[in-house]
Amino acid sequence: MIQSINMKKTMSLVVGNWKMNPATMDEASVLVSTIVKKNKENKESYVAIAPPFLYLSEASKKIKNSKVLLAAQNVYHKNIGAYTGEVSALQLKDLGVGFIIIGHSERRANGETNEDVNLKTQSALKYRLSPIVCIGEKERDENGYFFTFVENQIRSLASVLSPEEFKKIIIAYEPIWAIGTGNTATEEDVKEMQLFIESILTKLYDRQIAKSVRLIYGGSVKPSNAFSLHQEGGMNGFLVGSSSLKAEEFLEIIKAVS
Ligand code: PGA
Repeated sequence: MIQSINMKKTMSLVVGNWKMNPATMDEASVLVSTIVKKNKENKESYVAIAPPFLYLSEASKKIKNSKVLLAAQNVYHKNIGAYTGEVSALQLKDLGVGFIIIGHSERRANGETNEDVNLKTQSALKYRLSPIVCIGEKERDENGYFFTFVENQIRSLASVLSPEEFKKIIIAYEPIWAIGTGNTATEEDVKEMQLFIESILTKLYDRQIAKSVRLIYGGSVKPSNAFSLHQEGGMNGFLVGSSSLKAEEFLEIIKAVS
């Protein structure tokens, strides 16, 4: 498996967030196999899938010797012990997981805080797993308060990470109003946010770090908008929800960035 943490920034990353889908192991298994097969010749981009925890072991076997990487949708910040229902970075690492989606808005809506996100990110980094930290505003207001909201999410993370650590994280900008709604952000929105996040990172750290952190976009990415969002949005990949559950659509999005 490619060491996800050493990925070349010149190549885009497309991550499929399966959320709580599909309904059976058989369907999950077919989906992984199809993606592995169709992604065989792809040398132009990194591809990762994030199935539910209970399919990770099966997916891990199916992606062996392939170009598909494995991501988890969550993690607990402790290593091992009496934490009912939780899964640790140590355990995910052992399964061959390379990335962990942290702080997705659907989890934040269930009470996950910036502090939880910080602890989870530190735990992922400890085991050399790449955290994909999700940030993004609920809605856009005319006064531009949403910029402050995004800035605060980044500042919170930066308050616990050294420059060397921050360099290793991936930031997924996922405006909540665009997730699962079909209301994709425009290319201009994405470009503006890329520049904004880089300016915050330059302020907090320096320009070199701002340029080395990978930014990806998520929120209703589909085959019809992937190419222009990639060309004009200025970010380095996508976090894809519903379109990652249909192998054909997911592969079209991969092609659009490759
Ligand atoms: P969507 O989900 O592509 O279905 O909007 C994206 C996400 O939640 O990561």
